[in-house]
Amino acid sequence: MPVAGLASVTAAASAERAGTRRAIVTAVAVAALAMTGFALIRISGGSPTPLNHLGYAPILLAAYVYGLRGSLPAAVLVSVLFGPTAAWLGMPGGLEGPQAWLIRAVFFVGISVVGGGLFDQLRSHIAAWQTAAVTIAQRERDGMVALARGAEAKDTDTGDHIQRVRSLAEVLAESADMPTDEAEAIGWAAMLHDVGKLHIPDRILLKPAPLTSEEWDLMRRHTVFGEAILSVGEGFETARRIARWHHENFDGSGYPDGLRREQIPLPARIVRVADAFDAMTSDRPYHTARSAEWALAELQRHASTQFDPDLVALFVYLAETGRLPLRNDNRSSDFAYRASGATERY
Ligand SMILES: [Fe+2]
Repeated sequence: MPVAGLASVTAAASAERAGTRRAIVTAVAVAALAMTGFALIRISGGSPTPLNHLGYAPILLAAYVYGLRGSLPAAVLVSVLFGPTAAWLGMPGGLEGPQAWLIRAVFFVGISVVGGGLFDQLRSHIAAWQTAAVTIAQRERDGMVALARGAEAKDTDTGDHIQRVRSLAEVLAESADMPTDEAEAIGWAAMLHDVGKLHIPDRILLKPAPLTSEEWDLMRRHTVFGEAILSVGEGFETARRIARWHHENFDGSGYPDGLRREQIPLPARIVRVADAFDAMTSDRPYHTARSAEWALAELQRHASTQFDPDLVALFVYLAETGRLPLRNDNRSSDFAYRASGATERY
């Protein structure tokens, strides 16, 4: 069985075990509450005491956890326990007759129907809201992908760079002890890191020769252009920060703000590594793809200057232990790599 299939079967089995455990704990809690009420009623003189209202506690607990299918059996249990049980057992204090037991049972069952029904309805509303939230999140991500692909289309032929950067950034973020949902969000936001290139003319983006200093000045502005494009609301906050600061260097020599070390937001430092690695291992107008080994060595060579050294060490460890989603066509190249200024364009 494929690993993903095995993982989903394991997850389903573990969810089933958790559900069974929950059912047992709930049943024990309902029975314990009912028995406690029964004991208190007997100790305090019998069924006419106000303590009969304790019967609502196990019923509402069962309603909260299981809805009507839990609260109704709980109401029957409590009605029998608080009603004829003492008389059947020959216990003192049972001053009431069947009519009082029946009236009380009607109230217990009535509360169980109302409580169980309301909790069932609440649960179905929550499920509908969750479905809507997932749909909205998916559409938001579809929008991010479309926008990122639009920018990418100007830069390369395939548009796969953004997908690879997303995967690499997500794995690196999660391995850096970030919560899974945050790591995933960083991955999605990472796809928009170069969206500012929409403002850069093709004659500069696709130029196979070294850029002039004026062209470099404009090229560097893709970071601030990206931030401006993404300044449309809180939904793009992480993407906005990544777009502005993904070319900042760890030693403060990057752009656009010359931030250094922890001044650079962690998501931007993560994308800095992932983006540079993928750029080095991909064909670009100004260089040919290099092997993963070569790119890893290059990352290490520039750790503490361009890149966060801890993230580089983690990235190399992940690559060496086979935990990075590396492309299949990583390869060595005989073409001369233009070291001069080349890393600047990652
Ligand atoms: Fe960039």
